[in-house]
Amino acid sequence: MPYREDIPGHMYGRDFKAIEALAACVSPHGTVVEVGAYYGRSAWAWAKSVPSSATVYCIDSWEGNKDDPLPQMDRSASLDEFKEYVKDCSNIIPIQGYSPTMTWDKNLRPDLVFIDGNHLKPHVDNDLAFWSKQLNPHGILCGHDFNPSKWPDVCAAVIQLAKSIKKPFRLFEDNTIWYFELEREEFKVENREVLMSRLLLEEISWQPTPNNILQIQSMFQM
Ligand SMILES: C[S@@+](CC[C@H](N)C(=O)[O-])C[C@H]1O[C@@H](n2cnc3c(N)ncnc32)[C@H](O)[C@@H]1O
Repeated sequence: MPYREDIPGHMYGRDFKAIEALAACVSPHGTVVEVGAYYGRSAWAWAKSVPSSATVYCIDSWEGNKDDPLPQMDRSASLDEFKEYVKDCSNIIPIQGYSPTMTWDKNLRPDLVFIDGNHLKPHVDNDLAFWSKQLNPHGILCGHDFNPSKWPDVCAAVIQLAKSIKKPFRLFEDNTIWYFELEREEFKVENREVLMSRLLLEEISWQPTPNNILQIQSMFQM
């Protein structure tokens, strides 16, 4: 499991395991997009977990979160700092700009998109809407921080996308990484039940009781 905890960031051991598992689906010469690269902690893990011949485009304003009332990070990373931390990853291409309005060749269909940029509405909704359409139809759309107590807008955006494209999404049981495999399955009631139980297990203070499941479902109007 390749990772470097000396790179500042908010990804931990259990997240890197999920990155490695998802990266295994990327073919040699495949394309990954990361939205929200910060100092490069997850970018480094993606670059080292995919085949070295695959390309990882890392998108960030490197100016922090526009319109974010909560100081999510101590300070913004700069593009130079990012480049320094990932200088041993020859397969990373940084793109400076705000997703989803940054410069992007719309003919390029990534095999995997990882969303970890602005976690607030409407930005996270815009990211999901744009990148779910840009993705290769067999691709994986994934992201960080499916955590209803900290990032309700991320959860609402993921659930909203699941409803609109009628596809289930998954969570890794021991972290907050969510993902859709767009070609795989149709959205079914059972998918939601599995999903909600996993979500509740993730928060130590919550128990997967029927009452709690109902509470969360009503929170997100499932
Ligand atoms: C949660 S941090 C990313 C953490 C990073 N993935 C890591 O491994 O530590 C969020 C980053 O998203 C960037 N950001 C915020 N809004 C953005 C946008 N619309 N497009 C691209 N990047 C954005 C911020 O500058 C910040 O660096």
